Amino acid sequence: MEKKIMLTGDRPTGRLHIGHYFGSLQNRVKMQNEVDECYILVADVQALTDNFNNPEKVRKNVREVVMDYLSVGIDPEKATIYIQSMIPEVAELTVFYSNLVTIARLERNPTVKTEIAQKKELFGESVTYGFLGYPVSQAADITAFDATIVPVGEDQSPLIEQCREIVRKFNSIYGDVLREPEVYLSETKRIKGLDGNEKMGKSLGNAIYLSDSEEEINKKVMSAVTDPSRIKKDDKGNPDICMVAYYHNLFSTKEECEKVCAECKAGTRGCVACKKQLAKNISDFLEPMREKRAYYEAHPEIVDEIIIKGTEKAREKAKEVMAKVKKAMKLDYFEK
Ligand code: TRP
Repeated sequence: MEKKIMLTGDRPTGRLHIGHYFGSLQNRVKMQNEVDECYILVADVQALTDNFNNPEKVRKNVREVVMDYLSVGIDPEKATIYIQSMIPEVAELTVFYSNLVTIARLERNPTVKTEIAQKKELFGESVTYGFLGYPVSQAADITAFDATIVPVGEDQSPLIEQCREIVRKFNSIYGDVLREPEVYLSETKRIKGLDGNEKMGKSLGNAIYLSDSEEEINKKVMSAVTDPSRIKKDDKGNPDICMVAYYHNLFSTKEECEKVCAECKAGTRGCVACKKQLAKNISDFLEPMREKRAYYEAHPEIVDEIIIKGTEKAREKAKEVMAKVKKAMKLDYFEK
């Protein structure tokens, strides 16, 4: 039987938030128990493609992201957590794959297109070679571990599709060496921001972080966008256009949701009471994660150990795959 290998990761440009949790973290925690091998990379090289002018930010967030992983329940006994830049085979593979993809194809990639549009300030009129090519490097991340399943948020689907194309192209030229990975999406898909924006994002300032304190959560929930026509406490509200109602659906029991919505529509419960209840539910939900995180924050040496061990193990795996790739590409000079 073919091995089931999960591989996934995040760019270390900030802490992870509840959008990440519902989009993919939840799936990763579940799936680490269902696969034969599991790799989670901290994509520092990829983070540099749009933060090349801010290496300190990337470096600082490597540990933050690893602590987020550990606090949501990624188990280092099951999942190998590693740093992308410490696996040189991945950079090497990226160079080989760059022959198998055209510039036009990269420019058509919907994820890359959206991101370039968002990063006008950084890139000006012309995007860098590195940023345009990051899907190629992501294909190297995935295939360097023979990964078959990639749990990510839905915005990442075009990148997995691009990886599959590279795999097919590689295999058609050099022989059947690489495997096509499948994307694994969550049912919740994308979580909206506190401001009602379609996307919760670190750069958008509308996120609740997994590591936020109770006070931070209270403050953020109080600022969430509600039905704008509801001005006085006893005005009748419309929960369908209220972010507080939207989050109640994620964090509160079914009965609670029905009750707050009915009371909102009837104008018998004010927004402040409704927000307080939501903030408490979010806070209760995140409490076990905060507790775990506090442990790792107090024991940085344990976090280091997990990263060092994980990276060593990951490197071994990538070397094995690299040997197969080089052989297929006739680059195995002087190998017996
Ligand atoms: N592109 C992902 C992000 O922006 C991070 C990432 C890098 C990744 N390499 C990967 C995800 C490989 C899945 C598989 O967060």
